[in-house]
Amino acid sequence: MLLKYSIGIVSVVLLSCWSFFNPNIQEPTLPKVMYQLDSEAKVLRERILKKKSLGVFTDSIQDMHIAIPTDPDEMTPEFHQMASYSLNLRKEIYRAKHPKQVYQKYIQSCITCHETHCPGPIRRIEQLKLK
Ligand code: HEC
Repeated sequence: MLLKYSIGIVSVVLLSCWSFFNPNIQEPTLPKVMYQLDSEAKVLRERILKKKSLGVFTDSIQDMHIAIPTDPDEMTPEFHQMASYSLNLRKEIYRAKHPKQVYQKYIQSCITCHETHCPGPIRRIEQLKLK
């Protein structure tokens, strides 16, 4: 009984990150927002490495606060708090004198939230860090 229950929980956790493998989702869902943040971070990482201009911050990525999550229970007050912290860092990168440090903090903020909310992609997010 307990085992059955645990398997249920594990599959819910896995399924909630499953759409990660399908980047072509059209609705303003949380996975889609995450996918866009992930791509943006890759571009930022490249530009910081090559010491190129980061361009201007645009708000073309939907706010994660109002995106539709796979599991509505994800949207806890703690989630929103971590989301605000992370999004502020994201904005700060573009106007920072030394974007590298802010960028590193930003990627760490992704990981911190993922530790409690969606551990699946953590390994992948780790790779966004600069050495
Ligand atoms: C405030 C919490 C929070 C922050 C900050 C956060 N994430 Fe997420 N992330 C989530 C949750 C929750 C999901 C699961 C989304 C769902 O299935 O609804 C997720 C899912 C993902 C996925 C899988 C997407 C999919 O298609 O299911 C990736 C990849 C990801 N995040 C990368 C990142 C990256 C990169 C950052 C930082 C730039 C980041 N996340 C910041 C909470 C967060």
